[in-house]
Amino acid sequence: LTLTVDGARPGPRLSPILHGIFFEEINHAGDGGLYPEKLRNRDFSEGTAHWEAFGGAKATTEGNALTLTGPGGVRTEGYWGIGLERGKKLVLSLEATNPIAATLVSPQGKVLAQATLKAGKGQVGLTPGASCPDARLELRPVAFPVVLKNPSLMPTETRGQAKLRKDLATLVAAMKPSFVRFPGGCYVEGDRIGDRFIWKGTLGDPNQRGGTRCIWGYKGTNGLGFHEYLLWCDDLKAEPLFVINCGMSHKDVTPLSQMDAVIQDALDALEYANGDPNTTKWGAERAKNGHPKPFGLKLIEIGNENGGPRYNERYKLLFDAIKKKHPYVRTIANDWGGLPTSAPIEIVDEHYYNTPQFFFEQANRYDSYDRKKHKVYVGEYAVTQGCGQGNLIAALGEAAFITGMERNSDVVVMASYAPLFVNANNRAWNPDAIVFNSSEAFGTPSYWVQQLFSTNRGDVVLPTKLVSSPKSGDQGATAEARGGVGVGTWRTDAEYKEVAVDGKPVTLTPGQGSWQKTAEGGLRQTNAQGDDFRATGGDPNASNYTLTLKAKKNGGDEGFLIMFY
Ligand code: AHR
Repeated sequence: LTLTVDGARPGPRLSPILHGIFFEEINHAGDGGLYPEKLRNRDFSEGTAHWEAFGGAKATTEGNALTLTGPGGVRTEGYWGIGLERGKKLVLSLEATNPIAATLVSPQGKVLAQATLKAGKGQVGLTPGASCPDARLELRPVAFPVVLKNPSLMPTETRGQAKLRKDLATLVAAMKPSFVRFPGGCYVEGDRIGDRFIWKGTLGDPNQRGGTRCIWGYKGTNGLGFHEYLLWCDDLKAEPLFVINCGMSHKDVTPLSQMDAVIQDALDALEYANGDPNTTKWGAERAKNGHPKPFGLKLIEIGNENGGPRYNERYKLLFDAIKKKHPYVRTIANDWGGLPTSAPIEIVDEHYYNTPQFFFEQANRYDSYDRKKHKVYVGEYAVTQGCGQGNLIAALGEAAFITGMERNSDVVVMASYAPLFVNANNRAWNPDAIVFNSSEAFGTPSYWVQQLFSTNRGDVVLPTKLVSSPKSGDQGATAEARGGVGVGTWRTDAEYKEVAVDGKPVTLTPGQGSWQKTAEGGLRQTNAQGDDFRATGGDPNASNYTLTLKAKKNGGDEGFLIMFY
C-alpha cells in the first residue's frame, strides 16, 4: 500500500470539540453506576422494594420512613449486590429512633464490617475486612419499634468534585472527551411530561431531591443532578452540553399557553450555570451549592428526538428566548423526521443506530454535504445490529464512520457514541461503551475506538491517497478497500455478496482475473463460504479505485478478507 499525504494543501481544521460523550440515565448508568450510592430505594418512595425484613421483623413504609417492628432487622442488597473492597472505607448515614447495629455481610453470612449507630441522625464508618462483590447491609435495631429515614452508604474513595464512582469515572476520563452531553436521551423527555428531567429538583440536599421515574423502567434518586453534571464536566475539562426538555414527552406535550414556564426553566438553567454569584438569583444558588465560579455552559440542545409541528412551534420559542438572553449559546436542534423551520438552525443533532455495513458505507456521508447549511452534531451513533453485546466489527464500522466525520469536521463539529454505560444487571439498551457491575467495569471494543480517536486528535485534515500496488497483500477485514488498477482478486466468506467498483455494481464470479471496464448492471449472488471470486469492473485507466463488498447474512455482521495481487 502506498499512502500519499499532501501537506501542501491542508483541508479543514478538525473541530476542537469533535469527540465527546453522551451520558444518559439509562441501564442504571447513574443510579447503581456512576453515582456511587450503594443503597437502592434509599428514600423508601418505592415502599419496601429492595429492603427485606428478617428474623421475625415486620417492615412498613409511609412517606420517606420505614418502620420496623421486632425482633430481627432489615437488610438490602443495594443494586444487585453491594460491591466491597478490602480496606476501603464506606460511610453509613442514617436517621433512626433507636440505636442500630449495622453489618456488611457476604452471601455466605460472613460479617465483613460492623459498627453501631446511636439514635438520631448519625454517620459511621464501615471498613470491610475482605473484598466481596455481592454483600448486603443488615440493620439490627436494639429496640422496637424503630423508624428509619435517609439511609445512605457511600464509598469514601471517589473521583473528582462530583464524587463519582472511581473506576467508572476513570474509564471516562481516559476517553478525554471534549464535551459531555447530559442527561440523555429519552430520559430528558420522560414517558409523560411529569417524568421529564426537572433540573431544579436535582439541586441541594440529596435527601430532598425526590427522584425521577425514568423512562427506562426505574426510579432514580437525582443524586447525580444538574450541579454534579456540571462538576463532572469541570473535572473532565469538557464543555457541558445540556439537553433541555422542550415541553414534549413521549406521550404528551406542554400546551403552548404554558410554555413560559418551560422557557424560564431553560433560561434559569443557563443562569445557574453561568450567572454572577453576587447579582443573579441562580448564580447565587450555584455559589451556595459550593461553586461560585461560573461553569461556562455554552451548548444547549432544544429537546431530544422531538419533531413534527409541535416541535416546530416550541423550538422557535426556546431558540428565540435563549439567543436573546444568552447570545453566546450555541443551540442544537433535533432532526426527527425533519428539521424545524420556525427559527434558524445552528447545529443539528443526527442519530444513527445500524449495522456495521451501514457505518462502513456512511464513511463518505459528509464528503458531499452542503457546506452552506448548518453544522452537524452526530449526537448518538453506534452499531446496534449484528454485534452481540459489542464486538470488533461493530467498533470497526464506527471507526470507519469516524474517519469520515474527521475528514469533514468543518461540517461535523461534534459526535458522541451512545449510550455510554450499562449495568450488566439492567441492560435496557444494547450495546453500550462501558459495561459494569457492582465492582468491575470494562470497555467494549467500541469504547476503545472512542478512546483511540479522542486521544489521538489531528489538527487539520490533509488530502490523502491510498494506492494498492500489485502484490500488496492482505487488506484485512473490511468492507471497503481502495486499490490500484491491476489484477484484482479477493476472497470472502460472506454468503451473500454485492460488489461495486467505484460505486458501480459489477459482476462477481468465482476465480481470478484482471480488472476490466465494467458493463452497467447490478449483481447479487449466493455462494458457498470460502470461495474465491473475481470482479470485473472499474476504469482500467484510473490510477486507483474503490472496491466495496456488502454482506447480507446473519444481519450483515460478517467480516471480509480482501486481497489484492
Ligand atoms: O441511546 C439510547 C436512546 O436512543 C436515547 O435515549 C434516545 O435518544 C435514542 O432513541
